[in-house]
Amino acid sequence: MSLRISVIGTNYLGAAHAAAMAEFGHRVIGVDVVASRVATLNAGRSPVFEDGLEPLLRKHVQGIAGSTDRLRFTTDYDEIADWADVHFICVGTPQGDDGSADLTEVRSVIETLAPRLTTAALVVGKSTVPVGTARTLQQRLDAIVPSRERVEVVWNPEFLREAHAVADSLRPDRIVLGAQSPAAIDLMRRVYAIPISEDTPVIECDLQTAELIKAAANSFLATKISFINAMARMCQAAGGDVARLADALGHDRRIGREYLNAGLGFGGGCLPKDVRALAVRAAQLGVGELSDLLGSVEAINAGQRTAIADLAVAELGGDIRGRRVAVLGAAFKPGTDDTRDSPALTVARDLAARGGDVRVYDPQAEVGDGLLYAAGSVREALADAELVLHLTEWEEFRQLEPAEYLAVVANPLIIDARLKLDRHRWTAAGWKVVQPGRAATL
Ligand code: UGA
Repeated sequence: MSLRISVIGTNYLGAAHAAAMAEFGHRVIGVDVVASRVATLNAGRSPVFEDGLEPLLRKHVQGIAGSTDRLRFTTDYDEIADWADVHFICVGTPQGDDGSADLTEVRSVIETLAPRLTTAALVVGKSTVPVGTARTLQQRLDAIVPSRERVEVVWNPEFLREAHAVADSLRPDRIVLGAQSPAAIDLMRRVYAIPISEDTPVIECDLQTAELIKAAANSFLATKISFINAMARMCQAAGGDVARLADALGHDRRIGREYLNAGLGFGGGCLPKDVRALAVRAAQLGVGELSDLLGSVEAINAGQRTAIADLAVAELGGDIRGRRVAVLGAAFKPGTDDTRDSPALTVARDLAARGGDVRVYDPQAEVGDGLLYAAGSVREALADAELVLHLTEWEEFRQLEPAEYLAVVANPLIIDARLKLDRHRWTAAGWKVVQPGRAATL
């Protein structure tokens, strides 16, 4: 049965979640403080580059020809306060100065919404927060909500990946419901009736477990990536091949092949900050073993970026000043225009800061940086380059015809930091290819 749902915060997470809720048959209002984003969404357009999101918006946004009219966006909380059965909080929790999550936006949602709630409702957190936050938010709601009926906090963490946001929202791996009452669980099961009917597993738990599940999931993925990157260093030291090693590990079902791609390490708006936030929270709660483990994960990750920049300088004979370097990729991973904590941009900026003449090309992301030259094409980026770095593994780069660029560059030398190019094809065309962690013989 259709419910009335508000989605507060309409960036990557909220926009996809709101569209998915409409696809599940609910009536949905998305709320955001940024008026321009609301206007874009109401026109059926996505404010971010995310495959499949615009068609889904156009299918449901009110007033668009042929749409279901189930979805609209507003800046006005009064339109949702007593209208929605369920309010989803999808605002950002960026990294604060001390490394812990900055909860300013979550708190501001609660302070704005709570005084307007005069009937029963669920307030459902999807944002990633330190364990203990949901309980504090419940206490704050209890203190300020005018409703005589209970307004209950539920924690329902989100696991969607950028570049796969729509697919992940419509077909989640699992649904985690951290709740305080059977009635709240029942209502949440109605929200997700469609994926549940398609056998998506549901994990019911308390608020703290739900908060920790999200932090643990991202931290575990980050740990896997740092583990394989540390093994890449071992391969380099011993002469082994990390790609073959990862394939062999991946065949063990207990390990699995995903998140074992060695290279430049993890970036983006989630993994780096969530690892840091869990490390800080673990230290606060006296769980030093976890904060130490995650500290190593972060150190390995940062080391990958520095190592590639050092390697680039070494390949140029130890002095990069004034030397033309081409960088392929700026987004933190392919399929997105997001450059938050992007490993590719960190390396590019590092090389520019060391005096390199760095030209960056990315199919979607804007470079927007005085330090770097934003090239409009691969050819423009590669023009007269003495060294090319492959830093974000877009499909477009894998499809490049290496022979076409021999005459474009000053020196056919490429560092494939993501280990995704077909080395034999590039070598056969006359390039020298450096793939750290891969054996030269394979
Ligand atoms: C991540 C999680 O995968 C989602 O489940 C989670 O919901 C999301 O954070 C979030 O908290 O909102 P996302 O930030 O989109 O999603 O990024 P991922 O696809 O997980 O990639 C993270 C980084 O790891 C990228 O920089 C990627 O290049 C890198 N990576 C990934 C590797 O270096 N090696 C791998 O094998 C896999």
